[in-house]
Amino acid sequence: MQENARVAVVTGGSRGIGRAIAIQLARDGHRVAFCHQSEDGPATRVAEEIRSLGAQVYNRRCDVADFDAVKSFLAAVEEHLGPISVLVNNAGIVRDKPLVLMDYDAWKAVIDVNLNGTFHFCRASILDFMKRKTRCIVNIASVAGVYGNPAQTNYCASKAGIIGFTRALAKEVGGYGIRVNAVAPGFIATDMTESLPADVVSEAVKRVALKRMGTVQDVADIVSFLASDRASYITGQVFQVDGGIAL
Ligand code: NAI
Repeated sequence: MQENARVAVVTGGSRGIGRAIAIQLARDGHRVAFCHQSEDGPATRVAEEIRSLGAQVYNRRCDVADFDAVKSFLAAVEEHLGPISVLVNNAGIVRDKPLVLMDYDAWKAVIDVNLNGTFHFCRASILDFMKRKTRCIVNIASVAGVYGNPAQTNYCASKAGIIGFTRALAKEVGGYGIRVNAVAPGFIATDMTESLPADVVSEAVKRVALKRMGTVQDVADIVSFLASDRASYITGQVFQVDGGIAL
């Protein structure tokens, strides 16, 4: 059994980037908890995959936009797996529209999940992290939050907000030994990007220096590093995993 394993929490672990991160952290020897919105079948399969690696796992639905639900999820994680050492805020959504057509619901939904969700998980765990020391947080931002994208004012604002939040929190809690970093993926092949028209994808890939979309493992690998003691002198940074999209 994983008597001394650290506990990692990943939001949005049922598919895509979050799934790859949850599985990689299990491979790295963590006990893994993850939440998701409503994909019970895929989430069960991720949990089975994690168990097959010999790691303990806890998963259930939890809407990251709901602060009470987040507090109750984190309490359940502690009860099932023990004190949390690594928090990865990954859950995210898009509701793309040019601003002139964007209704308030599309704005609010994206801010509520992407930015407020990150605040909820950090706010609910930070005091405990400060008491225990040497914990780490990795927030999944996006290159969209660095450079901006048309028809994504809501998404870009949420991701730029995550970057500012990450830097501010890193300064605030560094003295407690807590590291806070952000990863800003570029164009990664997942369900989120699968719905894009083929011409949009090929145009986007042309702008990537490495001439391919990224994989979920490309993102999971840097999260794995940042969550490890090998990154013990790294905080407040934003790591772009984008194949050189803006060179
Ligand atoms: P995805 O759509 O494949 O998966 C999203 C995950 O978040 C799912 O597990 C879903 O259940 C969960 N989720 C969504 N809303 C939730 C809520 N309210 N409460 C709890 N869980 C919720 O997304 P993907 O592509 O794997 O993206 C993951 C993260 O990476 C997101 O934050 C996204 O913005 C970011 N990202 C993705 C890029 C890409 O090219 N796919 C590029 C840059 C950033």
